[in-house]
Amino acid sequence: MISLQAEHERNVVAAVVSTAEANDGARRGEGLLYLDGKMLPLSYLSPKTEVRESEIHGHGLFAIADIAKDEVVAVKGGHIVDRKTLREKITPQLGPVEIQIDDDLFVAPVTDEEREFSMLYSNHSCNANLGMRGEITFVAMRDIRAGEELTHDWAMTDDDGYSVECKCGAPNCRKILTGKDWQRPELQKRYAGYFSAYLARKIGAHCHSE
Ligand SMILES: C[S@@+](CC[C@H](N)C(=O)[O-])C[C@H]1O[C@@H](n2cnc3c(N)ncnc32)[C@H](O)[C@@H]1O
Ligand SMILES: [Zn+2]
Repeated sequence: MISLQAEHERNVVAAVVSTAEANDGARRGEGLLYLDGKMLPLSYLSPKTEVRESEIHGHGLFAIADIAKDEVVAVKGGHIVDRKTLREKITPQLGPVEIQIDDDLFVAPVTDEEREFSMLYSNHSCNANLGMRGEITFVAMRDIRAGEELTHDWAMTDDDGYSVECKCGAPNCRKILTGKDWQRPELQKRYAGYFSAYLARKIGAHCHSE
């Protein structure tokens, strides 16, 4: 466990500041919280994960140890912002860094400095192995072996107007992803119990009104 933790800490980019710069206790500096000489990440990544290059896109999140079904893999942290703020202020500066948590609410870093401390690097896959518990917690939807890329399906988190080409490479790839994929009956069935809570509520309401 100690070596996994050490490995994980290497992957949280620039997470450690010199003890000369930080006090022993908690303090605030440049907008980030320091504790015991370290900048505190805004998000949580399991020590069983690491960030490295992905064949899907850029960097991805990978398992470096076996992970059991329903184990917590990551928790997204940041600021809670509305869609207007995200689209007008955050995305142009930081790129895609958010997770949607309700119709008009997102969790995201808001400064360059916060970006690395909030990013989870989980890519989308149409054959995802992570699902949601609540709105910000990512859990394993099945047992995951060390070495596998940790992915979620944006259908589990997003209710939006986009349409984008998928590069996940899975045999069951949908090729085109839309922000309304949560409405697809086959995905509602496959991801039952793993949708973001705000989408699960909509799916429930949908089913009961039919
Ligand atoms: C939060 S980032 C994930 C981490 C990203 N790979 C990186 O290195 O920063 C989400 C972005 O990754 C890319 N991406 C992730 N999964 C993808 C997929 N299956 N197909 C195409 N692009 C994908 C898209 O550009 C998307 O906006
Ligand atoms: Zn795909």
